[in-house]
Amino acid sequence: MDPVKPHPRVEEAASSLVTGGAEATGARRDTLSITDNRTGKQYELPIEHGAIRANDLRQIRYGPDDFGLMSYDPAYTNTAACASRITYIDGDKGILEYRGYPIEELAERSTYLETAYLILHGELPTRAQLEEWIWHITHHTFIHESIKKFLDGFHYDAHPMGMLVSTVAALSTFYPDAKDIFNAQSRRKQTYRLIGKMPTLAAFAYRHSLGLPYAYPDNDLSYTGNFLSMLFKTTEAKFTPNPTLERALDLLFILHADHEQNCSTSAMRGVGSSHVDPYCATAAATAALYGPLHGGANEAVVRMLTEIGSVSKVPAFIKGIEKGESKLMGFGHRVYKNYDPRAKIIKQAAYQVFDVLGRNPLLDVALEIERIALSDEYFIKRKLYPNVDFYSGLIYQALSFPSAMFPVLFAIPRTAGWLAHWQEMLDDQEQKIARPRQLFLGPARRGYVPIEQRG
Ligand code: ACO
Repeated sequence: MDPVKPHPRVEEAASSLVTGGAEATGARRDTLSITDNRTGKQYELPIEHGAIRANDLRQIRYGPDDFGLMSYDPAYTNTAACASRITYIDGDKGILEYRGYPIEELAERSTYLETAYLILHGELPTRAQLEEWIWHITHHTFIHESIKKFLDGFHYDAHPMGMLVSTVAALSTFYPDAKDIFNAQSRRKQTYRLIGKMPTLAAFAYRHSLGLPYAYPDNDLSYTGNFLSMLFKTTEAKFTPNPTLERALDLLFILHADHEQNCSTSAMRGVGSSHVDPYCATAAATAALYGPLHGGANEAVVRMLTEIGSVSKVPAFIKGIEKGESKLMGFGHRVYKNYDPRAKIIKQAAYQVFDVLGRNPLLDVALEIERIALSDEYFIKRKLYPNVDFYSGLIYQALSFPSAMFPVLFAIPRTAGWLAHWQEMLDDQEQKIARPRQLFLGPARRGYVPIEQRG
């Protein structure tokens, strides 16, 4: 394994598993002993960073024709598919760090573009590096005029995520240099382009759905200020974003910038492992994000809150969840078994946005759901807490975004995380094309049956 410096807490957790008995006898060995009861043979597998290598299991065979032992892990709930240095999550404690920096500090003190730089480069930029980075992103916001023709081809009520997936993939055809994925200069260029153009594609998709003319990027504005301008500018010569809302959106972008090996990032790595260009890989990641169990959840939360409608109907709704009638959208997480730290920050930000724009009446429904759920046996037992999507939709709605745009607002900032993982995957000497194994449980070999003989 590449000499990844483990996060100190990962190392601690790994050693505490072993120390109980072995340390007492002074014989700690970072290995795992396995006895195969089919053959009586014993094996000793090395443990590194709290993991064994799945390939080490292959030596465990019950006969010469046996393929060797595999681990079965549907949905990869306990499989590390890579070593990464980008984002650290402690799901039990509700901790999230980008490159070692706590999300709370970044949310308070950083900007989205600075955080994107950090995620991609590993360190916070100097002032000169930051200025250069912002300049490059800002000067890659325009899209080829032909992309507008693609957008024009979509039906007026096409979902903006469908339009985003398609137009990001289409960028691949405009930048053939992007195929040079092992060329550092080319990679840098595609990174500027993708981070720069995602808001433009998203805003154009939104304007198309309203039948409005496209508003071109304004290089004088900040990343989120320009995005708001491309979305909401009408007849004014220059759009002036409300600073509180511009900052609220920037904060949401920081919180969504990366989240280690989630479904869409795994799609980025998996598709990117075939060495396709980053536009196609980003389109795949965006498609993964579209699903209601992932980036589509914030859209589903607002739909759910609207259907519930009032605080008085919350207890009956929660009862229905307990009976398995539906899921409580915006609750639960594969990794967090505690309050998602991003949800805490978003909840606070929601109040600031509502001070400017007026209180979203659905907030009261959401607060009541949270109050009841956090003291309800069903949710306590399963460690289900609000996730990032529970309150973000309410802010987006207050900012006048239609719910179909919510996952798009997730895809834009996550592009930095996807690209950081794509780059890390390509530079990792141990990575190959992603190709999991299967347990084949289908029929044994049999002969073809002519149609007239089938029952
Ligand atoms: N509402 C009600 N019950 C739930 C919920 C929920 N939101 N989430 C999990 N559970 C229950 C499951 O039914 C299961 O119960 P059981 O043990 O009685 O069978 C138990 O909690 C464990 O849940 P899993 O499905 O094993 O958890 P998993 O890690 O596979 O799923 C997921 C995580 C997909 C996020 C799930 O919690 C969910 O569907 N939540 C709602 C959708 C959502 O908010 N997604 C956004 C996630 S954050 C993100 O992608 C940005």
